[in-house]
Amino acid sequence: MSKIKAPKGAPFARIIGVGGYRPVRVVPNEVILETIDSSDEWIRSRSGIETRHWANDEETVAAMSIEASGKAIADAGINADQIGAVVVSTVSHFSQTPAVATEIADKLGTNKAAAFDISAGCAGFGYGLTLAKGMIVEGSAEYVLVIGVERLSDLTDLEDRATAFLFGDGAGAVVVGPSEEPHIGPTVWGSEGDKAGTIKQTVPWNEFLPHSRLRSSGGTATGDVSKLPLDSKGEIKFPAITQEGQAVFRWAVFEMAKVAQQALDAAGITPDDLDVFIPHQANERIIDSMVKTLKLPAHVTVARDVRTTGNTSAASIPLAMERLLATGEAKSGDTALVIGFGAGLVYAATVVTLP
Ligand SMILES: CC(C)(COP(=O)(O)OP(=O)(O)OC[C@H]1O[C@@H](n2cnc3c(N)ncnc32)[C@H](O)[C@@H]1OP(=O)(O)O)[C@@H](O)C(=O)NCCC(=O)NCCS
Repeated sequence: MSKIKAPKGAPFARIIGVGGYRPVRVVPNEVILETIDSSDEWIRSRSGIETRHWANDEETVAAMSIEASGKAIADAGINADQIGAVVVSTVSHFSQTPAVATEIADKLGTNKAAAFDISAGCAGFGYGLTLAKGMIVEGSAEYVLVIGVERLSDLTDLEDRATAFLFGDGAGAVVVGPSEEPHIGPTVWGSEGDKAGTIKQTVPWNEFLPHSRLRSSGGTATGDVSKLPLDSKGEIKFPAITQEGQAVFRWAVFEMAKVAQQALDAAGITPDDLDVFIPHQANERIIDSMVKTLKLPAHVTVARDVRTTGNTSAASIPLAMERLLATGEAKSGDTALVIGFGAGLVYAATVVTLP
């Protein structure tokens, strides 16, 4: 028999506040056309993207997160010192250690909250939300701050026709707190590591740094610069995110609609019960296809933040959520299906009540 007493968490959890931060600089497709052979019409029709935001030097991963989190905490109506854990999902924070979450937790004025980063690509928000729900129900924290934040412009190869127009920067945050009723459904999530190569960094850091003292087996850590990709000026390219666009597109369209349906089933609702659909903002054609496959009724509001925010990976769902609520397209208490999917390949879908 166990000597450990049963944990005293809340019966359920819910999102009680949301906030977003978009960098000041708005980048139209015309700027992308300076480095790739494309057209505004092609980019809009193939991806839906018209503009995206790129961060300046001051808009760091931590700074954007703090801005978004401040708004989420105010929206939740709590004080920062009530937050018991800070979970940051990002793939574009350049310091390997420590986690950026600890700096954010400190600067926000939490009372030494637990803080850590996770790496789950464009599914990162759903992964963070699931961890937060678990912590609250299990009793390790009363309130959890979940942040999705990216500076993907740092990791974009502006000469790569397949990705140059896709990515943007920004931060979205939610506060998750205790609830007497279920307001976050079961998460349907998973990974397909056999497809890991379809979205990846062009060159690992140890191979990019030619003078690295790292000695990883099988790599070129000893400094074989001749194997590194070069840009049009003959300079070694900074590592970037690359993808097999069509393979990812097909996977997203065929597999993710099934996952979305499973999340509805797990929550015990049908598309008719939904008010809002907030899929990862990767490509508007993927969004349209999912809406069709799921047979979402016309009354369901669909997030299309990708048009003016681009793909901000872990930040895309909370940013889209924040915008729908701010514009009045969605309202507090609405039932929303959220689904993230991306590098890994990984995915996470769940039904939530909007804050
Ligand atoms: C990237 C993406 C928009 C490309 O669209 P696509 O329709 O698959 O484009 P393709 O790669 O099949 O190329 C189609 C044609 O457009 C051309 N093309 C490719 N990139 C282009 C660009 N940036 N501008 C203009 N033409 C382009 C190709 O050369 C090809 O021409 P061809 O038919 O004469 O050979 C699309 O694959 C996509 O959105 N994939 C998923 C992206 C995503 O969501 N990733 C993140 C997941 S988290």
